[in-house]
Amino acid sequence: MKKYFIYTYGCQMNVHETEKLAGILQDRGLQLASQVEDADVVIFNTCCIRESAEQKILGNIGAIKPIKKKKKDLIVAVCGCMAQQKDMAGNLRKKFPFIDIVFGANNIEFFGDYLDTYLNQKKFLNKVIEDEQYIENEQGISMVRDNPFYAYVNIMYGCNNFCTYCIVPYVRGREKSRNPEEIYKEVKTLLEMGYKVITLLGQNVNSYGLDGNTNGVNFAKLLDTIANFDGDFELRFMTSHPKDISDEVIEVMAKNEKISKTLHLPVQSGSNRVLKAMNRNYTREHYLNTIEKIRKAMPNITLSTDIIVGFPGETDEEYQETVDLIKTVRYHNAFIFMYSKRKGTIAEKMDNQIPINIKRERIHNLLKIQHEISEELFHEMIGTTQRALIDFGNKNEGYIAKAQCGKVIKLITDKQIKLGSFVNVEIIDYKKGNLIGRIK
Ligand code: 5AD
Ligand code: SF4
Repeated sequence: MKKYFIYTYGCQMNVHETEKLAGILQDRGLQLASQVEDADVVIFNTCCIRESAEQKILGNIGAIKPIKKKKKDLIVAVCGCMAQQKDMAGNLRKKFPFIDIVFGANNIEFFGDYLDTYLNQKKFLNKVIEDEQYIENEQGISMVRDNPFYAYVNIMYGCNNFCTYCIVPYVRGREKSRNPEEIYKEVKTLLEMGYKVITLLGQNVNSYGLDGNTNGVNFAKLLDTIANFDGDFELRFMTSHPKDISDEVIEVMAKNEKISKTLHLPVQSGSNRVLKAMNRNYTREHYLNTIEKIRKAMPNITLSTDIIVGFPGETDEEYQETVDLIKTVRYHNAFIFMYSKRKGTIAEKMDNQIPINIKRERIHNLLKIQHEISEELFHEMIGTTQRALIDFGNKNEGYIAKAQCGKVIKLITDKQIKLGSFVNVEIIDYKKGNLIGRIK
């Protein structure tokens, strides 16, 4: 039997698209290879959000050369956001002549057809579609989901925001919402199959429906409807843009037990000057006010964020405003990045690019501050009761549960427990980055 191996880089969207690629391949009778050397088809599902991602991917593609040399029939495909960039397919092929198929971020679901064409013609195939619009073909596509309890469901594709640092709108195209009935059907099927945590995915979920594709269903309504489905499950979503999260969404989150009390709300910077230069369309005050509203409605919510340090022109004072914001909000978790120049974006042409040593210093300092805050917050969880999903382990080696914020809880129990059950866990300690808990 033929085998495949997929390298996945980047965000949840890509992870989910790899599940679609795996589904397409398994429908054709291929099996997952345990190592790349055993594969007959290798796919690189790529990311280009930062230069570091691209460098890593180029290195990994290069490492395929000796394998292809030994195995002439090996099919090498590169897809996803990096491949979608202008002129990239040709450049990749020039750099790595052993690549057989390149396709973009917006036509992943047609890989089966591309494979057939390639097998017929045995000629390099460039299937990147330039018009930046997602071509939806989810019906009838099998997905091989990686985990038996957690499932991603796309609710929309693309992004209209054009934050000045970000390449996503150029490679993922304009926002396109999926039909709500199709989303409901997919979620219901997943619940029947036993999935326990459903995460709705989109680059900017709060603008779901604004493109007029959903018969008037907005994000709040979509959430509310799914949260009222039968069954013991949790509902999550990402990513939310702070300018778009509405009072209605906060209300729906607060009133529905099945919606996880966790929220990822990327702030990017604490400085109004920088936020404006980033084209984020909110101010620090608006953001903090939103956090206040969210906490008022859901006092126990866990929050996470994304931050960029070293955006062009960021002064020490402006950086300090981000430090101050992090200390004010006290996120459970923050993903902190050094600004990376992306070709074709507005920020690429800005003066005052920040030297790498300053970016390093800022990220280092901010990571340290955030680490201390996270540690404090996890310590503060001791004595509380958390609803968590037992998703790993066995009676002999012990069980692991995940809190709603994704934090690992090591369970103390001598009972046999069915994986995939929700339990109320009393947190009794926090050690070495893990919460320790007892089932109540
Ligand atoms: N440089 C650094 N970080 C970036 N992000 C997006 N574009 C860039 C860039 N050019 C970060 C943002 C975003 C997260 C997914 O990646 O913080 O929220
Ligand atoms: Fe990029 Fe901004 Fe769109 Fe997020 S909202 S994908 S950061 S352009």
